[in-house]
Amino acid sequence: MLSREIVQEALRKRIAFLDKVQPIVECHVVDFLWENHWQKLLPEALRWELEENSVKIVENLQEVFSGNYSKFEQLGQFITNAGCHSLQGVPEIEGLDGIFPKDLQNLKVSDFMTPKKEHEVKKTSQLISWLCKKSSSTTVVIDAGDGKGYLSSCLAFEYNLPVLGLETNANYQKSSKNRIEKLKKKWKLPDREDNYKSLAVTVTSDLNLREITLKSFPKYPEANFCLSGLHTCGDLAVTCLEIFTRDPDVKFLCNIGCCYNLLTKFPMSSFLSAQGVTMTDRARMLACQSLNTILREKSLPSNSLHFRTLFEQLVKAKHPDSSFQQLGKIKSSTFSDYFQRACIKMNLPIFHSQEELDEIFKNYNRTFLDLFYVLRASLAGAIEAVILLDRVHYLLESGVQSKVHLIKLFDYEISPRCYAIVAEKF
Ligand SMILES: C[S@@+](CC[C@H](N)C(=O)[O-])C[C@H]1O[C@@H](n2cnc3c(N)ncnc32)[C@H](O)[C@@H]1O
Repeated sequence: MLSREIVQEALRKRIAFLDKVQPIVECHVVDFLWENHWQKLLPEALRWELEENSVKIVENLQEVFSGNYSKFEQLGQFITNAGCHSLQGVPEIEGLDGIFPKDLQNLKVSDFMTPKKEHEVKKTSQLISWLCKKSSSTTVVIDAGDGKGYLSSCLAFEYNLPVLGLETNANYQKSSKNRIEKLKKKWKLPDREDNYKSLAVTVTSDLNLREITLKSFPKYPEANFCLSGLHTCGDLAVTCLEIFTRDPDVKFLCNIGCCYNLLTKFPMSSFLSAQGVTMTDRARMLACQSLNTILREKSLPSNSLHFRTLFEQLVKAKHPDSSFQQLGKIKSSTFSDYFQRACIKMNLPIFHSQEELDEIFKNYNRTFLDLFYVLRASLAGAIEAVILLDRVHYLLESGVQSKVHLIKLFDYEISPRCYAIVAEKF
């Protein structure tokens, strides 16, 4: 359980850390060469170490960045420091072991979903059913951003809970309905068939949950609500928290956010607003990255990012006032082709021959941009921590008497947006 003091302390540390690394967070990676990010933004000792060992490090990227720092002291310090400022560095974050000592049941509802979704649904449904059991009266689960109904159908059919899915995208609703029909036929659970209802509704903070729930579940006029949301993208997470604080009938909240790039409401808490803390688009975009996924899938910058940064350097050296805003995406398999297309798009003369361009790209060393990209991605966890701790603080300062938890719900390797904000009113 989290207190204001704990959350404030954790926020202060992370904001101070992000202030220090702000130039790296806020830089535009496509300006890497022209703006000389490597020299200007990285601490000198780290840069030297990386320059001396760049080939070895890039070849063993996953091993090195995952903790084998014995030969790379500066790099080790940078990554460890970034990791400490992610939510992993907050000791009060709870795991599931304390809550569910036994292994989770195998879900029948795992039919027709990916292994990642199955993992998420398995853990989230168990957590929600555990929350709902705490109530002495009927609890209707309202799943905000229900998508294709994976979580809600599991809660309805496996855990026998009444669930109302609310989804803004009517197309998802159709595929959800088809899936539910298939599930119903397969398992033949007549007593549970009426447990799941879904509506094409956009969840807003003033939505009258009692009214819409009564239409779907008239037999539960006095039920209380558990407002769930699995990967509520952007502002939907914020909206769910606002509903929880406003609507006394919502007794439980279980929210896992995602797509911080779509977030417009930050900060939520008066604690951070009073300090004038804001977050730029670049920081929110960076928060969506996952260092582990980049390392595991070796998803280093694509050729097009390398082409773009090299193109910018060549053009700015010749035409310093050029604007690259209209450039957009250009698909090319070679740098010379990219260069020519990009010049045409920007109405510039093609001022290098094919041979010159081939030679320029032959001498270009992609290692430094690759390393810079991974170092920058290691800061994503600290930004995510600030976003989620701010949400927790909002709940704690709202005046609503509740217990608030941040729970590491998913295996980070399977699902990087793995933290759930869970709240229960007294
Ligand atoms: C990342 S998806 C997650 C879907 C589902 N919960 C799952 O885990 O499979 C987020 C969903 O929220 C829906 N959504 C976003 N904002 C919404 C809103 N204000 N009201 C209802 N649905 C919303 C989107 O259309 C999308 O289907």
